[in-house]
Amino acid sequence: MALKDNSSQNRWSSRWLFVLAAAGSAVGLGNIWKFPYIAGENGGGAFVLIYLVCIALVGIPIMISEVLMGREGRSSPIHTMRILAKKAGRSQRWALLGWLGVMTGFLILSYYAVIAGWAINYFWLTANGTFDGAGGDFVAQAFTDLQADPMRMVAYQTAFMVVTIWIVGRGVTAGLERAIQWFMPALFILLVVLLIYSFNSGGFAQGWAFMFDLKWDAVGPEAWLIAMGQAFFTLSLGMGTMMAYGAYVPEDARLSTTVVTIALLDTVVAIAAGLAIFPIVFANGLEVSQGPGLTFVTLPLAFGQMPFGAFFGAVFFILISFAAITSAISLTEPALAYLTEEYNAKRQRVAISLGVVCWVLGLGTVFSFNIWSDVFVVGELNFFGFVDYLSQNIMLPLGGMLITIFAAWLLPRDMINRQLGISSPAVSWAWRIVAGILAPLGVLAIFIYTVWPLIQNLFNL
Ligand code: PHE
Repeated sequence: MALKDNSSQNRWSSRWLFVLAAAGSAVGLGNIWKFPYIAGENGGGAFVLIYLVCIALVGIPIMISEVLMGREGRSSPIHTMRILAKKAGRSQRWALLGWLGVMTGFLILSYYAVIAGWAINYFWLTANGTFDGAGGDFVAQAFTDLQADPMRMVAYQTAFMVVTIWIVGRGVTAGLERAIQWFMPALFILLVVLLIYSFNSGGFAQGWAFMFDLKWDAVGPEAWLIAMGQAFFTLSLGMGTMMAYGAYVPEDARLSTTVVTIALLDTVVAIAAGLAIFPIVFANGLEVSQGPGLTFVTLPLAFGQMPFGAFFGAVFFILISFAAITSAISLTEPALAYLTEEYNAKRQRVAISLGVVCWVLGLGTVFSFNIWSDVFVVGELNFFGFVDYLSQNIMLPLGGMLITIFAAWLLPRDMINRQLGISSPAVSWAWRIVAGILAPLGVLAIFIYTVWPLIQNLFNL
């Protein structure tokens, strides 16, 4: 069918709503449990500095590239790539980049819904006082029990998918904007409540030191790569989400300052999450354990020991659930926008079909924790391990690198200057160097770092 420009239909009501929506996409599971942990493990303050450099030199240029491409194409990432390739006189194969994004979104959402389902389950468990006064074994067992119970996991995964699909099916204004207007302020308030609590927990100084003391000797070369990978995932880059959201950005919004605001909000939330979590962990004399363990074992244990723990625990898990929902809705947008345009179909119907496919794919992740835990897809990766590795370590960096190369080198320069409001040739060159050389090289480094060991393993090098 002919390429369609959706310009008259979907548009964020204001620049500020775009900022909230994009921040909603960016702030997710990646900020609330992953960032604090990796920051602490990689030298705290030194790592935070490195992370900020990565956000500034890699994250922000790629996000600007994605949003500007979206606003120029005004369509789903697949159609946007076709439109832009045509305008730039390049091969239509660039549309494959849009497809890559759609697939990545599918894969990430399939497991994102399962993990978010855990958070919803833990909201009920903590609110009901399940962990009040409980010991370490009990809390660890509760998490093991959840993972061993596919029915319970599927129930919560389904609940999460139903809410997500219901929201996205209602469209940009009635669905996305309304949900974001409720969830984002709620998320900030909940985070502040937790921060105040953690400030008074008795472990704040220790938590602060853990996050910010500049321990350069703890920063190895791989810290740069970990920070860069995190900058990528946390800013929702490399899969067309920001391109899809960019398609709805009003013409008069200044892209550079808008994107910087989004990146700042995302970073503030990640750091605030660390400052909310670690003092509670230290105040209770607990260990800073890894990833899922920190959120689903250590924290419930801490909440079980403290006054009003059931209340604050519930606040924490509802916070993660909200953050996950606003990210999940953005994960569906590239595919949803494409299918709606391509088949001129009703958004709601497309949303439901997409949701069902993603839900079925998610069953693979659910079973990876129990009945399929030893079924390996590649090497020692089971289904979840494989989908997670493929999407985050391969597909996102690849997508991001190609997007920024396309934007910096292949798009007509006057188009970029117009989109970014650049008038001086020096700024235009500076933009090319940052977005066209520094950012893709940074991504290339992560890419080699994550893919090389896999190749070595596969071929016994
Ligand atoms: N940024 C989200 C997080 O930190 C995850 C995400 C990745 C969302 C890619 C959309 C696209 O959890």
